[in-house]
Amino acid sequence: MNTLPLAIAPSLLAADFAALGKEIAAAERGGADLLHVDVMDGHFVPNLSMGPPVVQAVHRVATVPLDVHLMIANPDQHIEAFVKAGAARITVHVEVLPHLHRTLQYIRSLGAQSGVALNPSTPVGAIEEVLDEVDQVLVMSVNPGFGGQTFIPRSESKIRALRALLDAAGSRAPVSVDGGVDHGNAARLVAAGAAILVAGSSIFGGGEPERATRELRAAAMQGLAGRAPAAGL
Ligand code: DX5
Ligand code: ZN
Repeated sequence: MNTLPLAIAPSLLAADFAALGKEIAAAERGGADLLHVDVMDGHFVPNLSMGPPVVQAVHRVATVPLDVHLMIANPDQHIEAFVKAGAARITVHVEVLPHLHRTLQYIRSLGAQSGVALNPSTPVGAIEEVLDEVDQVLVMSVNPGFGGQTFIPRSESKIRALRALLDAAGSRAPVSVDGGVDHGNAARLVAAGAAILVAGSSIFGGGEPERATRELRAAAMQGLAGRAPAAGL
């Protein structure tokens, strides 16, 4: 994993699935650092998306690590399949895991980076006791389940609070932000402490993912000046 203070993670949910290889190559040419893959089960979130076979196919063509976001009710049952399919990072939701600590240890034991995601209604304190087991924290800035939603403004202060919580615990885990991220808010989010920007519609929605990825990074870089030296990836 690189040590950039900032990573752009295009979310494939908004890509043209009939041309996934082309979409991935374009995002990578534009400078994507990770590829974000959204897995939905129709239970935890009211939508269905992709599973391990798609992750495996993406892994065959991708040159950057896969950041797999599990929006599913029973992640423990499926984590191994996603790691075998090529996931470098696995993010699970705190809301579905009474034994979150064990699950995060399990992800690491399989050789992947462990991530934990917080819904908009979940307080940052929900992960306070597991910070030692976490390689990244994802702030959902929309309610999960669909691309193309409007960014929830309160997420910005949540990113700041999370970064402070991680710093106080001596954790260098990056904060990731997912949902409604675009060229207009990227700098503010980075200034607040986000190190990974997940973006679907703003990368793939306009039909020029290469350019959109490059422009999102350029916009986000403006926010780096406004923040203290932060965690790498
Ligand atoms: C939403 C997913 C996101 C989604 C973001 O549930 O977790 O990763 O693809 O899409 P945009 O960037 O369009 O809000
Ligand atoms: Zn996601």
